[in-house]
Amino acid sequence: MILTDFPVLTTALEAAVRAPSPHNTQPWFFELGRGVVEVHLDEDRVLEVCDPDGREARLACGAALLNIELAIAAAGWFPDTDLMPDLSRPSLLARVEIGDRHRPGTEELRLAAAIPRRYSNRRPFTDQPVPTPVRNAVRQAARVEDARLVLVDEAGHLEAAATLIRRADHLQTQNEAFQTEMRAWTGTHDRDDGVPAFAGGPRSAGGLLPVRHFHESVAPRPYEQDPVVAVLTTSDDGPVARLRAGRAMQRVLLTATTEGLSASFYSQPMEIPSARAELRALLGGNDYPQTLFRLGYGFPGVPTPRRPLEAVVREKAS
Ligand SMILES: Cc1cc2nc3c(=O)[nH]c(=O)nc-3n(C[C@H](O)[C@H](O)[C@H](O)COP(=O)(O)O)c2cc1C
Repeated sequence: MILTDFPVLTTALEAAVRAPSPHNTQPWFFELGRGVVEVHLDEDRVLEVCDPDGREARLACGAALLNIELAIAAAGWFPDTDLMPDLSRPSLLARVEIGDRHRPGTEELRLAAAIPRRYSNRRPFTDQPVPTPVRNAVRQAARVEDARLVLVDEAGHLEAAATLIRRADHLQTQNEAFQTEMRAWTGTHDRDDGVPAFAGGPRSAGGLLPVRHFHESVAPRPYEQDPVVAVLTTSDDGPVARLRAGRAMQRVLLTATTEGLSASFYSQPMEIPSARAELRALLGGNDYPQTLFRLGYGFPGVPTPRRPLEAVVREKAS
């Protein structure tokens, strides 16, 4: 239990660590001051092979930041955030101060309540279609954070995106360094980071999208016929844009959770620069794809572990 003069910050930190992160690396640490929390990138936890420039780690920290802001807002305070407040310390990603009293809106309360219920669901979804109002709600969630969520359903685009994912997946399967790094973080037991075996999905029996293989899974199973593939894009691709993209990613995932949707990531084309460029061109060539996931109605799963707050929170030197 982390003790502070501001109990809302403990709640906010408990929310922060529930954010998704590549291979559940949890690439963050937090510094606590009086009524203020800082979000830092933990460079030692950036995946060297899969994420050499830390783009995905920044997305994860952006997601943790949104969780902090929502938890503070839901507790009745205004979160006063500065992104990258000190450019001489690029791993200090954000500073959030507890501001004035604030009456939380319904949306803030719903999203904050969804934080502990969100998790990646890599198993097959049902074939129940995702209705238009729900598609609009997840798109709108991205717009709130100045990003765009493209649901890849134009004729031919889904097949083209799926081909890109399969090709990138194949390249990563052949890449020994990538495989070694992935094995070090996945299929684990008795750890509070990494992806446990129970969180993996079965191999896909002839499906459109390749599941990332975290462990030698059971027999292949069919996945949904018509997956809803979503690509989150931003108009810029600098460090602040990536942080904001992480916020947008998390707002979309939490909105999906409130709508009863499951999600699982397919980052293979994001992790190979040529594939990311091809995906960008496929989507019109203007915006930068930041993350890709499928959405649908799944069966309940189990959340994955996190490191305790004691391991990720430090007191800020005054
Ligand atoms: C930027 C990013 C990329 C990810 N890429 C993948 C991926 O390609 N395949 C996958 O199965 N999970 C992927 N994940 C999901 C993480 O493995 C997952 O968030 C982490 O294990 C924590 O589990 P949880 O999402 O269930 O809380 C990604 C997560 C993030 C934030």
